[in-house]
Amino acid sequence: METKKQTTTKTTKKESTAKKTDTKSEVKVTNKTSKLPKITVSKKKKIVFLGSEAAPFIATGGLADVLGSLPKALAKDKKLDISVILPLYSNINQSFREKMEFITNFNVSVSWRLQYAGVFKCVHENVTFYFIDNEYYFKREGNIYGFYDDAERYAFYSRAALDTIARLDIFPDVLHCNDWQSAAAIVYLKGMYYGDERFRNIKSVFTIHNIEYQGAFGMETYGDLFGFPESVKNFVEHNGMVNLMKAAVEMTDLVTTVSPTYSQEIKHEFFAHGLDSVIRRNEHKLTGILNGIDLDYYNPETDKCLFKNYSAKDLSGKAVCKAELQKMLGLPERADVPVISVISRLVSHKGLDLVKGVIEQILAQDVQLIILGKGEVGYENFFTNVAKNYPTKCIAIIAYNQDLSRKIYSGSDLFLMPSKMEPCGLSQMIAGRYGTVSIVRETGGLNDSIHFYDGQNGNGFTFHDYNAHDMLHVINIACNVFRDKNAWKDVQNRILNSDFSWNNLAGKYLELYNK
Ligand code: GLC
Repeated sequence: METKKQTTTKTTKKESTAKKTDTKSEVKVTNKTSKLPKITVSKKKKIVFLGSEAAPFIATGGLADVLGSLPKALAKDKKLDISVILPLYSNINQSFREKMEFITNFNVSVSWRLQYAGVFKCVHENVTFYFIDNEYYFKREGNIYGFYDDAERYAFYSRAALDTIARLDIFPDVLHCNDWQSAAAIVYLKGMYYGDERFRNIKSVFTIHNIEYQGAFGMETYGDLFGFPESVKNFVEHNGMVNLMKAAVEMTDLVTTVSPTYSQEIKHEFFAHGLDSVIRRNEHKLTGILNGIDLDYYNPETDKCLFKNYSAKDLSGKAVCKAELQKMLGLPERADVPVISVISRLVSHKGLDLVKGVIEQILAQDVQLIILGKGEVGYENFFTNVAKNYPTKCIAIIAYNQDLSRKIYSGSDLFLMPSKMEPCGLSQMIAGRYGTVSIVRETGGLNDSIHFYDGQNGNGFTFHDYNAHDMLHVINIACNVFRDKNAWKDVQNRILNSDFSWNNLAGKYLELYNK
């Protein structure tokens, strides 16, 4: 279970190196008149991010994109001191592990259990990443979540992260936690660690990336596993269960969610998965800030996965990408047919029932439809069967594949994302970066990033009601615009010129931290 067998002397040495590197960015204030020792004052505001995944180290969903790009955007001009603390999953690639340096190790209390934690560090794009090592919790096959002991794994992670802050003396001004996996850190911070003034001074931000996943566990985990004190029971308990997301919302200083529209939606029962009253009660703390994407990571000019690179100014390479994609997938190589793609987890809230409902009507038109994703078996089988029946029109690839997804983003004309609920959604922005125009339902971040193109304004195609025929109608409008060369050029330019970068949005977080 406890793998790292460092000697005490070695650890101490490394700790002192760590301290040295940490103080490098600080400003020395010298008092020349007296012989007082040099005082070191850190001028930079310190933010520590917690969350369960961050690109490029470990990525299974949108959270990883955000934790890979927001800290980077905030650290860009080096005015802030930004760190991210992550679990050291065994799935993290060897090439990244080689860049990590062992810093220290100690024991962490998970209620009555005492568990080993090693800390590794690496600096990536001005952001300091710390990784918490414990093979018992994080050396798992396949996925990073979905294990019987997830509650214990993330209770450990959340406490180990706070203990790392103390050990390394990296007390931040703001602790920014994301989703349920790091929500317990807010409960520990506000409900248990406040005796230490250095922790008491930390302000906390909690971001809801998706209210559906709350970290709800049986009450027996309350003391025995999380080791929460009786004093915070009112905050933590929800419907007779431990609910980490609810606890964080109640106890944190500020709450954010990943788009303005979603911040309104989660006040309502339909969207809130049982937390609407909690959100309403904490409304005064809530802001919605739209996510951005990393424009370097998604860049058609440099992306190595593309058949041919291209830029917003010269889309000739995009035509090659389309033709090569059609060839690769065995579709007729035609420039004049609209290629519509769906790249998505195949789960219900992505609105796939709408696609299922009218797929025959969609395929009755002169279109090509490409579906990439995996998820619920029902959808996987459905789309595989449809593809078998329409071999020259529909391709379904049941996989999660970064390389292929970029080939599809770049080789498509239209991107379909009819989500029932979508806190933010990044795929519509990524598609846009590759000059692919989205068709979306007006919900959450889709509503804040894509606006209906009416020939004058807008950058895509949208529909309001969760209704398959409304979607079909808008798909037909989009296909008609595709066939009108001038209009198509116009809407394509509009999506290419829509700013989905963090440039302006990171500033909104900064404003929040400055509160
Ligand atoms: C979650 C949401 C998605 C959002 C992402 C990043 O995955 O479902 O809409 O874009 O988090 O915030």
